[in-house]
Amino acid sequence: AENMLWGGRFTQGLDPLMVQYNESLPYDRIMWKQDIAGSIAFARANMKNGILTQHEFAEIERGFAQISEEWRTDTFEPKPNDEDIHTANERRLGEIIGKEIGGKLHTGRSRNEQVATDMRLWLRDELRVLDSQLCDLIKVSVARAEKEIDYLMPGYTHLQKAQPVRWAHWMLSHATAFASELQRLREVIARVNRSPLGCGALAGNPFNIDREAMAKELGFDGLLYNSMNTVGDRDFAMETMQWGSSFMLKISRWAEDLIIYSSLEFGFVRLSDAYSTGSSLMPQKKNADSLELLRGKSGRAFGQMAGLMMTIKGLPTTYNKDLQESIEPLLDHIKTVSDSILIATGVLSTLTANPEKMAAALAPEMLATEFADYLVRKGVPFREGHHISGRVVQLAESTNVPMDTLTLEQLQGIDARFGEDVQACLDYERAVELKDAIGGTSKRAVMEQTGVLKKLL
Ligand code: ARG
Repeated sequence: AENMLWGGRFTQGLDPLMVQYNESLPYDRIMWKQDIAGSIAFARANMKNGILTQHEFAEIERGFAQISEEWRTDTFEPKPNDEDIHTANERRLGEIIGKEIGGKLHTGRSRNEQVATDMRLWLRDELRVLDSQLCDLIKVSVARAEKEIDYLMPGYTHLQKAQPVRWAHWMLSHATAFASELQRLREVIARVNRSPLGCGALAGNPFNIDREAMAKELGFDGLLYNSMNTVGDRDFAMETMQWGSSFMLKISRWAEDLIIYSSLEFGFVRLSDAYSTGSSLMPQKKNADSLELLRGKSGRAFGQMAGLMMTIKGLPTTYNKDLQESIEPLLDHIKTVSDSILIATGVLSTLTANPEKMAAALAPEMLATEFADYLVRKGVPFREGHHISGRVVQLAESTNVPMDTLTLEQLQGIDARFGEDVQACLDYERAVELKDAIGGTSKRAVMEQTGVLKKLL
């Protein structure tokens, strides 16, 4: 127990399985850079305090420069007692610059503030990458929407043919949902990027350390203001995974639409080979595995979020070792979300849209609302117009003909207010262009939406 960080009051070593059970270095080593940056900022502040001399600080900086190099070149050699990244770096520092000076680094500091600092720094940088990846996904959606603005397809409610819309409008419906997630992400980043450094184990720092200066050096946007809450707070991880779950829910619905649209029965889109797989048994198969994994991985993301919330919910105030369990799910969560955004962007930028198939799926019944709107424009109350149009649909159904083949006489048999000009109602393009109010599916309204999205990017 002598050579453990906390060896003083112990006489016996750890049970070997307990060593493994306790250690986080195998995964928290990913934060080596943040851990070192935090240590240097802390040492610099302790130099300004007079805890460290300039020479001692220079030695600490020199030691960490070498340790950084070792991590960077993958030559850092962990020792059996390196419980976590904080322990490992401090142990190595003592070896390089000597225990006399190395032993002063941790003055007034706790691993409780260190781990929260490292995680927030790491997460902040990862979330900024996600921000730019998400922007790319939205950009691809917008670019396709502009290029393929003329394709019309059935719009669905309840997965039943509802009204004709632009394919671009469908793409932007999802891009708009992604944009909400982008805004949420930016709000999360602002709360993640606050500094715990100087909070100590729970009670604060006894050497009047300059917390503002450390926060500034590390690029934090501000401080966390209660030391007890700060060391026991994993909101930044929880909120990130709540955000990630929400995003994965959106991408899952997007994927589900495309799984349907890429089926042979629909054929609106064809996935590129790069994002499809075959069947080991059925030679004709081309499966949308990329999309199914996007849908499937959302379950994993929700599970990680729920798991952490369960871990935290009954903990007494401040730090408890349970909190170490926030790291692994968070790392995997970030990777899952990031990979998912990249895959979705790849799928969307390489798929082939088939406007002929989309057009062929349009059905005259989807224009029934146009008949009602036609009557409204002649002064008929909408409820009555809806009823009359319903009878038109019913006549087509009962005589087993498509609605667009009914004669004017037949229509006038239902209601005398139908005139020659009702023919115009059978034009899909016209139906789409009439939806010209803000947010609608007319060409102008769709282009307006691309403008709104571009402002966010
Ligand atoms: N590896 C630990 C964690 O991830 C660091 C904090 C340990 N602090 C302590 N008092 N045991 O939570």
